[in-house]
Amino acid sequence: MPLYKTITVNLNTSIAIWKVEETETFLGKGILLTDHCQNRYNGMKSELHRRAFLSIRHLLVLYGYEDKDLVYDEFGKPHLKDGNFISITHSHHFTAIIISRTEQVGIDIEKNREKILRIAHKFTPFEEYRTLANTEAIIRKLTIVWGAKESLYKIYGQQGISFLHHIHVADFSFAQNQTTAKIIYQGDISLYEVHFMEFEGFTLVYAIKG
Ligand SMILES: CC(C)(COP(=O)(O)OP(=O)(O)OC[C@H]1O[C@@H](n2cnc3c(N)ncnc32)[C@H](O)[C@@H]1OP(=O)(O)O)[C@@H](O)C(=O)NCCC(=O)NCCS
Repeated sequence: MPLYKTITVNLNTSIAIWKVEETETFLGKGILLTDHCQNRYNGMKSELHRRAFLSIRHLLVLYGYEDKDLVYDEFGKPHLKDGNFISITHSHHFTAIIISRTEQVGIDIEKNREKILRIAHKFTPFEEYRTLANTEAIIRKLTIVWGAKESLYKIYGQQGISFLHHIHVADFSFAQNQTTAKIIYQGDISLYEVHFMEFEGFTLVYAIKG
């Protein structure tokens, strides 16, 4: 099952998720990479990473794009040459893109893992999560917060901002499936809407600049 799910966020914004189950040869068929991307692809040591990279090119095709329509800036942020906004994510065998004609967008998929408990203090005031019912709930919530911060970071597109000090995610309940967030950095405040969903032990978060 290659195309896992598509989500229509609004009239101008869509998400497509791929579950990478195909071989590298299969995924490579019909995909033409720019020299830049071919070089990156050739340097990828992990076969799953190469398959994920190719699957994203298949997701682009869904929206009428090819690899050559994508250009990366000096920070590694992808841009569409026609001016539409895009964000890309891959985690193990899931990959996703979000494309918007009108809004700046960011997306992140993370596998839910216990490891997040050990690094939580580096990206969020951890105390807030102690009231949750059990460890699994804490892991889920922290993974959503992490994904939100990665998504915002991808929109902001600049190095220097700190997940802990500059990106703030408003508290939320699981049932809401959404929250808000802001970046306060060098006197500048920007606001974002954040949405999340969970599937097969993974968490997908996307953010839209307000
Ligand atoms: C760049 C970064 C956002 C990528 O996120 P990730 O979870 O490692 O990986 P993902 O698969 O979700 O995203 C990778 C994609 O992000 C995009 N990306 C890379 N750099 C980017 C940037 N500066 N801005 C926006 N998007 C970027 C690319 O499209 C990349 O995929 P591609 O090169 O195959 O097209 C992440 O590595 C990073 O640097 N985060 C900030 C680090 C940080 O401050 N951490 C805090 C620790 S407490």
